[in-house]
Amino acid sequence: MSPAAPIGLMSAMHEELVLLLEAMPDEQRVTVAGRDFWLGHWQGRSVVVVLSRIGKVAAATTATALIERFGVQQIVFTGVAGGVGPGVRVGDVVLADSFVQHDMDASPLFPRHEVPLYGRSRFATDPALSRGLALAAQQVLAQVAAHVGGAAVAEFALHSPRLHTGLIASGDRFVSSTSECRALQQALPEALAVEMEGAAVAQVCADYGVPFAALRTVSDRADDDAHADFSRFIRSVASRYSLGMLSAWLAR
Ligand code: ADE
Repeated sequence: MSPAAPIGLMSAMHEELVLLLEAMPDEQRVTVAGRDFWLGHWQGRSVVVVLSRIGKVAAATTATALIERFGVQQIVFTGVAGGVGPGVRVGDVVLADSFVQHDMDASPLFPRHEVPLYGRSRFATDPALSRGLALAAQQVLAQVAAHVGGAAVAEFALHSPRLHTGLIASGDRFVSSTSECRALQQALPEALAVEMEGAAVAQVCADYGVPFAALRTVSDRADDDAHADFSRFIRSVASRYSLGMLSAWLAR
């Protein structure tokens, strides 16, 4: 890959995008498909930063534009997710090794979760890209207070947050009831977290042969309390984790 090839950074949250743009000295806006793509540099690397919007279709359109219009040669997605795996707690980070669409069901024509005509339900992330991001995430998690401040550590009980690596499930639903979360755990026992975009980006990147990786900060447990303090958590914790992790990764 050419060192000058831009890296696509997709963020799921407006608060996160604002912090990333503040870190770029020279960002320029280009609007495509009704979205603002921010071209510039960060840590000396050429980047294109964009808000994915919410849901699989919006994320797929955004990823396609990043590849087709901006020629990015790798994509990294950061945002938040609901923790569904055992021991995946608020404030932890989940690095995806693969994605599945939990709401894909063309049965009985195809097995549940299989993407029709792809012959598979799982889309893997890029191992080399993911290894670099894992190191960056561990660096941030080892010094949480330095990134989010002592008040946020106390407010959200961010004691010894952990990095988990494994399957993330995506679907066009904000999972916010204990019963729905249990059903998801039963259908996909190995899923660590649930969100609304990653599997779509993984499929687009597989179609184009573009390396993809994703880091998600756990904002809730996808249960009856999932909406509580969501915005404050994103502002005070998740967006700062993302800034720290991406900055450490790009600096390597
Ligand atoms: N993103 C963050 N929390 C989520 C949840 N509970 N369901 C879907 N997407 C999410």
